[in-house]
Amino acid sequence: MQTTFMDVFRSQFFPKTYCFLEDPVESWIEAYDFDTHHPELAAPLKSIFVKAKIATIFSEPFSYEEEKIRKNVEELKQNHFTFLASRRTREGDTLPFYSALEHPRLPGWVLKPCGSKVPDSRFILGPANSLNDMAYFHPYDGLYRIPMKERIRKIAELEDIPLLVPKKFYAKIPFCNKENPLENTFVIAEKLDVLSTQDTLKMIKSMSTSQQSLLAYRIGRLIQLSGFLDASLNNIRLTPNGEIAIIDTEPAGFLKERGEFPKPFWAGYGHQGTLEKSGRIGLHLLRDQFLDKSLSTPDGKKVAFKGYESFKEMLDTMIDQDYSLKPSSRKKALAVLSFGVLPVLWAIQSLFIHLVLHFLTDKYMYLKKKHADRAILYQYVPYPEKKAKEAKMKYRLNLYLRLIHYFQKDIPKVQEVKLSCPIPASAIC
Ligand SMILES: Nc1ncnc2c1ncn2[C@@H]1O[C@H](COP(=O)(O)OP(=O)(O)OP(=O)(O)O)[C@@H](O)[C@H]1O
Ligand SMILES: [Mg+2]
Repeated sequence: MQTTFMDVFRSQFFPKTYCFLEDPVESWIEAYDFDTHHPELAAPLKSIFVKAKIATIFSEPFSYEEEKIRKNVEELKQNHFTFLASRRTREGDTLPFYSALEHPRLPGWVLKPCGSKVPDSRFILGPANSLNDMAYFHPYDGLYRIPMKERIRKIAELEDIPLLVPKKFYAKIPFCNKENPLENTFVIAEKLDVLSTQDTLKMIKSMSTSQQSLLAYRIGRLIQLSGFLDASLNNIRLTPNGEIAIIDTEPAGFLKERGEFPKPFWAGYGHQGTLEKSGRIGLHLLRDQFLDKSLSTPDGKKVAFKGYESFKEMLDTMIDQDYSLKPSSRKKALAVLSFGVLPVLWAIQSLFIHLVLHFLTDKYMYLKKKHADRAILYQYVPYPEKKAKEAKMKYRLNLYLRLIHYFQKDIPKVQEVKLSCPIPASAIC
């Protein structure tokens, strides 16, 4: 889906709010220290880490290599950890994953290592929607779970939306001598009594239409106002009493620390999610889980799975009325007060971004095709040479992909509403 000049120009008028952490992550780690809040659990926590390998797994970046994941999982299993998360293998099997763990010595708590999930060598596509909006993970996402949880909790309070979020603390990895919080800290969360994703769906299905609408509105509003974008039903659940619970509050690249990026005029650029963009991704993600992809109405609209119509309709309404895809009054005022100078500058900037994006996308597609064509030839070259060539090509592809998303940042592709005549023209005399 190519970004047009109009997409870029229009997006200049949309509201864009950048949200930062006011205090550095170190202050959060101090304020939410597990040992201080739960000194009685310091000894059992320490006893879990007496094997050096456990501390190493907790302090390393997350691995994407199946072999390494299996090895770490085996090591943790032998040390009585159990796994709450899983990943899909290339063959489509389910592999336990160590992003959320339990241990019998800490009943009632979930341990969440905070290693970076952003490998240097690959460009990981984050949650996305059909408007070209995409999120980018941030190395500190694991550690920002607590500030994000607080953000969501405060917004729920302000909006009078009943919400459960687990208590979360930072724990220092025992016997770890690393300095960087990414390597020496993990998050420990109170285990909430939540329904499984499937049971959450069943409960939604059993609700009346008005209950479904209200629930969708409450969750949708939380997503839009807090910028919570990883809004899958893996992370948002219902409790047996029907309360909303958000158990995984990783901000997925949305929150940043102030001063983390170059400050001057391009401070707004780069892999930063605006509040509006994050909200859009979250709302779409949630709505899309209720779509029956095999069905659509005659005008091309996707249909909800049977029994979830009101839930989906409410989210559709919120998406259709999304204020973030309309010119903001601030931007309109600026355009008028500048006597049209700003819109002209925005148009020049938009043309530049559009042309750069066009060039980068063409180049990326060309390289991708070249890569696919060459794959046949690579079959006949020795393995080490083949691996080196593929690595070089992947590096180039990733570079272009990074640049495309750098320029694309928060330019949504606003879908045009096409009005077509329902009666065939030939039937009109
Ligand atoms: N505080 C909690 N209370 C109850 N269950 C939890 C809690 N935290 C995590 N879980 C369980 O562990 C699973 C994985 O946790 P989490 O979502 O934090 O990790 P993840 O790597 O993002 O996994 P996923 O990709 O499945 O969302 C959740 O889907 C949930 O079933
Ligand atoms: Mg999750």
